[in-house]
Amino acid sequence: MSVAKRARALRAEIEKHNHQYYVLDAPLVSDAEYDTLFRELQALEAEHPELVSSDSPTQRVGAPPLAEFASVVHSTPMLSLNNAFADEEVLVFDRRVREGLATEGDVDYAAEPKFDGLAVSLSYEQGILLRGATRGDGTTGEDVTANLRTLHSIPLHLQGSGWPDRFEVRGEVLFWRSDFERLNTQQRERGEKEFVNARNAAAGSLRQLDSRITARRPLRFFAYGVGTVTGAALPATHSGLLDKLAEWGFPVAPERRRVSGLTGLLAYFAEIGRRRKSLPYDIDGVVYKVDDLAAQERLGFVSRAPRFALAHKFPADEAITELLDISIQVGRTGALTPVARLAPVFVGGVTVTNATLHNEDEIRRKDVRIGDMVVVRRAGDVIPEVARVLPEKRPQAARQFIMPTSCPVCGSQVARNPDEAVARCSGGLYCPAQRKQALLHFASRRALDIEGLGDKLVEQLVDSAVVRTPADLYRLGLLALANLERVAEKSASNLLAAIERSKQTTLARFIYALGIRNVGEATARDLARHFASLDRLLAADEAQLLQVTDVGPIVAQSIRQFCNEPHNLEVIEQLRAAGVVWSEGEGRAPAGGAVVGKVFVLTGTLPSLTRDTAKQLIEAAGGKVSSAVSQRTDFVVAGAEAGSKLEKARLLAIRVVDEGQLLTLLNLEQPAP
Ligand code: IVH
Repeated sequence: MSVAKRARALRAEIEKHNHQYYVLDAPLVSDAEYDTLFRELQALEAEHPELVSSDSPTQRVGAPPLAEFASVVHSTPMLSLNNAFADEEVLVFDRRVREGLATEGDVDYAAEPKFDGLAVSLSYEQGILLRGATRGDGTTGEDVTANLRTLHSIPLHLQGSGWPDRFEVRGEVLFWRSDFERLNTQQRERGEKEFVNARNAAAGSLRQLDSRITARRPLRFFAYGVGTVTGAALPATHSGLLDKLAEWGFPVAPERRRVSGLTGLLAYFAEIGRRRKSLPYDIDGVVYKVDDLAAQERLGFVSRAPRFALAHKFPADEAITELLDISIQVGRTGALTPVARLAPVFVGGVTVTNATLHNEDEIRRKDVRIGDMVVVRRAGDVIPEVARVLPEKRPQAARQFIMPTSCPVCGSQVARNPDEAVARCSGGLYCPAQRKQALLHFASRRALDIEGLGDKLVEQLVDSAVVRTPADLYRLGLLALANLERVAEKSASNLLAAIERSKQTTLARFIYALGIRNVGEATARDLARHFASLDRLLAADEAQLLQVTDVGPIVAQSIRQFCNEPHNLEVIEQLRAAGVVWSEGEGRAPAGGAVVGKVFVLTGTLPSLTRDTAKQLIEAAGGKVSSAVSQRTDFVVAGAEAGSKLEKARLLAIRVVDEGQLLTLLNLEQPAP
């Protein structure tokens, strides 16, 4: 047998055993036999480096460290799911589905566990794993290909046949509980820090710049769906799709099941709830999806979540502890939040020492007193809260909490709007607490993204009166920073560089960064898209604001209030004067700036856009259109009868998108069929 042939045979053999072991959980050979095969292949490849291929099982050992992760724009966004805790919410979901599909009868659903890990997207071309990315903010994730290649349960090349030319498989990366426990034992033995829970450990392991570290962590993968698909028809149902994915070599949950109607959903939930503790991995609920894919498409999406799917979550984890004290936190908008200081308690996988009590009314309603024994609840990633008190355990000395009438931070009067539950400090940006929060928000990752400007630093900058407004950040010098406690020169200059970088931003991020009450990231994006200019937004009256998608009277009023405050306009002017810029009209780009500065080449006939319109849309979003494909091209937009440009793009491995994907990149709706 030739060496090449032997290498091929070994690879096939090893991949088969990988699949048996990691996907089917049914090993055929002992570890020693497997190791012998593996070492023979390694030796062959060492002797004949020309035989090494990127999809060889020997390549799962990790690659040299990266300086940083590249970002990946998801051509189909990675959305989230609506949550339900109560049966009634499932009933409402099922009713809406039936209304949406105009059917009276029971709907067929695909039900599966909700894995408690991290979402990733795997891109395959011609059956070969090309790229893997994290979910990120759903629009843009991180390229963690080298890390994902080290997971034995992720096929480097697909089995069977009939897979699409290009497609993305979506699923979850997690640790099995036993692997996680072993990992923590190891960490302990090596004197290294233990992980608080399997999910954190999975996140930490996947986001290693050095994939050789990831390779030593036994992460697993489960597929639960697909993203963009080109070049083949898929089965007509979600359950059929998962069966296909299994055929092609992906692990899919063995607990998946087709169920019928509301009763089927609730029975499945109860059954998985009973089996939860005996499953080898952590789940935090189950997911229901309308099985018929055409019906899914008809139902579509509401903002960030599909109408055709629902996450039915298990009740949150609870634990009992002592409430030592209640303190007050002042938030960005001045809201005073009472926070319970607790005797440390392990709940929902982490040690909790603080829990929110929401507001004064909640404290009264639950009759929480200082010194009480309380039930603390933590669901998934949400902030822990005090669920209820155990009155039978109340000590004699327990005392009532009284909401302060003046702000504990700045002394300003505390006001409570009679029809609002929250009490607020009236100090505005005079209040250092509000100023600190406003600065942290301004610098946060989804806003102007100033890396290195954290709590401690903001605390010092504000307390020493070096920084009062976001605009002051752009006046900071090395000297001012070096005078602060515990700031090394290196981190000071890194921070200055990050501040400098933040000057190049997008309109949506800038609007979000302003911290206007009730204007979150999605609204900021809508506003940027609608007005495409900050001045137009600032000048808009209520009626004009109400024209923006999803902007109602409350949001419109918050925006008007913000713009009527001369101080706010002053800060905006100072920010502009300091050099903070975005390309106006670039409002149409998603917050990740998917298109800004990118070079596009158009080829072939697009189904609905003319070349001119496509060009205008790209340019309006801050992209460039060029006529020839070169190394500098970022995207080739290909339509029918695309010719040599498309071939050249393939040759240079440039991303090819169709009209639909272009519109997604531009954050525009697809035209109605
Ligand atoms: S389907 C369109 N199925 O839950 C939504 N998601 O809240 C596609 N997750 O980020 C998601 N198990 O990471 C789906 N069986 C499952 C899942 C699952 C866990 C996670 C996923 C997603 C989050 C959505």
